[in-house]
Amino acid sequence: MTNKSLKIIKKYFNVSVNEMRKLAGDFRSEMDKGLAGRKSSLKMIPTYTKRPSGTEIGKYIALDLGGTNFRVLEIELEGSGRMSRPRVMKFKLNKRHITGSGDLFFGFIAGCLKNFLVKNKEMNSVRKMGFTFSFPVKQTEIASGNLVCWTKGFKVSGVIGEDIVGLLEAALNKKGIRGVRVAALINDTVGTLAAKSYEDKNCNIGVIIGTGTNACYAEPELGGMIVNTEWGNFDKMRRTVFDILVDSQSDRPGQQVLEKMVSGMYLGEVALKVIRAHVLPGLKHFNTEQMSAIESDRSNGLTVTGKVLKMAGIKDTTPEERLACREISSIISLRAARLSAACLEAIVKKIDPSISNRHTIAIDGSVYEKHPSFANNISSALKDMLGTRAARIKVVLAKDGSGVGAAITAAAAG
Ligand code: GLC
Repeated sequence: MTNKSLKIIKKYFNVSVNEMRKLAGDFRSEMDKGLAGRKSSLKMIPTYTKRPSGTEIGKYIALDLGGTNFRVLEIELEGSGRMSRPRVMKFKLNKRHITGSGDLFFGFIAGCLKNFLVKNKEMNSVRKMGFTFSFPVKQTEIASGNLVCWTKGFKVSGVIGEDIVGLLEAALNKKGIRGVRVAALINDTVGTLAAKSYEDKNCNIGVIIGTGTNACYAEPELGGMIVNTEWGNFDKMRRTVFDILVDSQSDRPGQQVLEKMVSGMYLGEVALKVIRAHVLPGLKHFNTEQMSAIESDRSNGLTVTGKVLKMAGIKDTTPEERLACREISSIISLRAARLSAACLEAIVKKIDPSISNRHTIAIDGSVYEKHPSFANNISSALKDMLGTRAARIKVVLAKDGSGVGAAITAAAAG
């Protein structure tokens, strides 16, 4: 790849400050339309819950289903923003679970909960439970909601349009679990926001940048009710031919357009297409984790990158080729961070137009956590857009908040 091609790619994927401002404006008008119940790429789903007060107490169970990782937790809230270290059991869903029938899917989840209860001698305890279910769910109250559509490659049959809590409770019954009642059904962004705001009163936005991406926030116009934006479906960005290709080869073309430019499930795919076109035509597969590894490579001659590319199907690479792959990876991850920052700016301004107060944005997810410069790139982009006012916005990692947040929301729901 010549220097000239690199320059062209850089320009092609660049999101300038002006573009970020324009995007933030478009995001805002999509938010307004969604809130008004008009046609919009943002679903803006009311969640029927507010941020916790920090005084919630007691022992709760939480189920956390975000992608193929599934966790069961038990946690004791101690009030005044404190809690015990949660007891956790982790499980993995395989392809059969995420593409099979609803019975199999909910049966598996109920089975994992049973394992947890038996192991901790809690089969007879009476507990309220929070269920983090990280998909677009249309809620009518805090403890029930119907699945709008699957995202992130899930296609369990017979679940779209159904009440998730009803399906889970039927599965719990079948496994003989009688003491556990679902008190809250929440999105993972809502869990992240609840967990952080339990201890930080300035926290009013929760974000996931992992396998998928999404954000929620406390909406002043709805008395502080949390709204799940489902921003992964935002579609007002300028796309490159590579994005269009990734989209057309995906499960649901035309849907989750922002998610396909930002989240871990797709970032590596976009990079793969660019690397194939400009550097290594024979590269077979490439994922976001490998992108992070390459961008973290500080070795002489980029030997770590060489190893990663070897695993991805290219035996020998020159130092120039390795460097080109790293440059491409960072161009694409930088774009992802800047797109996210533009949307975040729009949300902060929706809450507080002149940004006169302090705001904490809680973010979780593998991309945000593990990528070497994603977090810094978001902060720099916010500074680019807001100048000194960016200092009023604190962006923090809220690790594993989604499960803990479900327990807190269950407590708050009573
Ligand atoms: C997808 C889901 C959304 C979830 C996000 C992060 O975008 O539709 O509900 O919050 O992934 O897991």
